[in-house]
Amino acid sequence: MQRSIVLPLSPEEGHLNRRQFVSRSLAAVGASLVSRNAQIASADQVPGSVLSSTVQKTRFPEGFLWGTATAAYQVEGAWKDDGKGESIWDRFTHTPGKVKGATTGDVACDEYHLYPQDIALAKSLNQKSYRFSISWPRIQPSGVGAPNMKGIDHYSRFVDVLLENGIRPFCTIYHWDLPQALEDRGGWPNRDLASYYADYAGILARYLGDRITVWAPFNMPWSVAYMGYGIGAFPPCRANFTDFLKAAHTISLAQAQALRSIKAASSKATVGSAYGMCPAYPKTDSEADRAAAARYHAMNNAFFLEATMKGQYPKAFVGEPPYELMGFKSGDEKIMHAPLDWVGFHYTRRFVSDASSSRAFGGGGFSGTEIEADPVTGRDPYTRFRAEMPAEGPLTESGLEVWPRGIYDLVTQISREYDHPIIEITESGCGYLDSPYEDGRVPDQRRIEFFRNELAELAQSIADGARVRSFHAWSLMDNFEWANGHTERYGLIYVDYRNQKRTIKDSGY
Ligand code: FCB
Repeated sequence: MQRSIVLPLSPEEGHLNRRQFVSRSLAAVGASLVSRNAQIASADQVPGSVLSSTVQKTRFPEGFLWGTATAAYQVEGAWKDDGKGESIWDRFTHTPGKVKGATTGDVACDEYHLYPQDIALAKSLNQKSYRFSISWPRIQPSGVGAPNMKGIDHYSRFVDVLLENGIRPFCTIYHWDLPQALEDRGGWPNRDLASYYADYAGILARYLGDRITVWAPFNMPWSVAYMGYGIGAFPPCRANFTDFLKAAHTISLAQAQALRSIKAASSKATVGSAYGMCPAYPKTDSEADRAAAARYHAMNNAFFLEATMKGQYPKAFVGEPPYELMGFKSGDEKIMHAPLDWVGFHYTRRFVSDASSSRAFGGGGFSGTEIEADPVTGRDPYTRFRAEMPAEGPLTESGLEVWPRGIYDLVTQISREYDHPIIEITESGCGYLDSPYEDGRVPDQRRIEFFRNELAELAQSIADGARVRSFHAWSLMDNFEWANGHTERYGLIYVDYRNQKRTIKDSGY
């Protein structure tokens, strides 16, 4: 990546000038906030890193919620215990050749059985919030119908143990493990799934909503649609742009219908989101690249947020959205409109350029946990942008760029665009393979640096008026990293998969 072509964000582009932002923002929350800009490193520092003197002075508001995040399929194991149905991830990982190292989530961290111990570990790390997901096929093995009470009872006990440990249960309702039976009915491109999903969400709120008050319908809905149906990197492994568009629209309907069914079942419920977002920077100063970056932001970051907040799709496409291909029916704008109580997201950054002059092609590539557009042809005939993950900052061992300033830029941008919503950072982390030394310690210094830098920038966004109330590190412990199996480790706690032994890493301490 050529550094010379990276442009600083300017207010004219709709990005943030810090002074303007402050003046328009709410009064800074809490007492002990950092009061000056996080300063970017000097030449002898790691590119993109924050001065250590700035990191040292970083403070967060009192009451800020520190948490960690996991997902059912990545940690639970117990893949067919207590009447659980098959999920698309069970099917995928049981298909030879799909997962690096031929591992599966059949056992993973065995959190299904070891959760009392893991929650005690989280408490010992002073965690106050735990974002976990519920496995839909444990609740409805075939995706529809009466709940499997053994599944409900499991999560009921799980939530009780969290509360006993003083940890807020933050429930992600869908973190990618669709019941296979629903995929067999057409998967997310089938709009009937919106109602099935809302029924499932309502069941959860009915049985658990007396204790869970924070619900996020989907983890990274764009990735569900794009990686599952657009490029086929994740199950159900379809690579068809029309299926992607249809899946995306069903998910928009589903998130709003779920919000309504959750609130109907639980008066304490607040509903937000767990979007994956990438702050997008135009690759060059050209108007075409600026417009492409705006389309990228609309498609990859704001698509589902705008749908639910405003009942419309943002300008993600060159021209009008392809409503017909999406399966959009008149009246859908009302169904998908259901404003959230808070907005949750996490990020890595992208440089975006216009791909209008390239041959349109519905392809793409997959690297680490992120998606890159096809390097030659651009992405598709509708959005026509090409996004690249820069490598200006250091890359983690999982191949993602570390660029702390990105979280400041994204948090302040979303704050401005959506009138300063309450924000939760639903996950953020880095993959490094550090393992225990002979003395038993795991000195994962790179992860410590990652969090120090990122948190300095996040604190700055709060000082500048963003209403961020939590930060969840991905992840409490090493776990099954989707198609990358056990080849990546994101945890604050090391897991030895041979014997399920947990070792708190230095970053955890
Ligand atoms: C996020 C996913 C999470 C995990 C981390 C590394 O995008 O939501 O499940 O895979 O990446």
